[in-house]
Amino acid sequence: MRPGRSITVLTLLAACAPALAAGEYDRALRVDVAVLQGDARLLADPATPAVRRAGLRARIASTLGTLGMTAREAGNPGPASPQILLPSIAALRTDFHRQRPDLFLRRATSLAMAFPLDTAYFIPLVATPLRARTGQSIYRQLCIGCHQYTDPKAANPAPDLFAMARSTPPAEFVARMLGGIHGVPRTTLKNPFSDEEIASLLVYFSAGKP
Ligand code: HEC
Repeated sequence: MRPGRSITVLTLLAACAPALAAGEYDRALRVDVAVLQGDARLLADPATPAVRRAGLRARIASTLGTLGMTAREAGNPGPASPQILLPSIAALRTDFHRQRPDLFLRRATSLAMAFPLDTAYFIPLVATPLRARTGQSIYRQLCIGCHQYTDPKAANPAPDLFAMARSTPPAEFVARMLGGIHGVPRTTLKNPFSDEEIASLLVYFSAGKP
């Protein structure tokens, strides 16, 4: 690595490091694994259009690129330890590059089962009028600009979140909500919402398009 590059990397790590507390890396890792499994499911689904398939491959390649680092940061003991996870991630990469979506899905599913995301705060989802109002207000202020219209020609379009709530397995949708919203690098890439705000958005999207 050239010196200039390592300085950039260090600056980046220093900028990101305080953003996540210890347990948050563990959650970030579990979110990535759950979303990876979801993307593998869509990639293996013959109904997924070719343009989306290309977008999913790009997303998966990017997650596979950073998953090892996230695993190290999480640094869990036991079955989720980097020593056990890193070889699984390497095996996932091999299956992915062999272009066998069925094999890749199988391996991603066993990793997600071995390493589940705790969704107890969100499932079963309790719909209250306060949550529905909060979700609507966040969506209208901060999401609608990008998410109202989905570009059918884009490889990774901003999805229709109401449709996504209907078509996605509940735990996977929670993972996509936890992993798919982030700030900008200048502040922090961390998801800026509390679990209660995420639950409010889930209630709003699950009620269907107003
Ligand atoms: C600046 C535009 C923009 C804004 C603002 C924005 N999003 Fe997105 N969002 C996107 C794009 C583009 C994608 C698709 C990215 C991809 O597939 O890699 C996306 C993807 C997502 C996903 C799916 C992630 C996944 O793993 O499939 C969720 C969930 C999501 N956004 C929720 C939200 C919510 C909730 C808000 C408001 C709080 C929001 N987004 C605000 C552009 C935006």
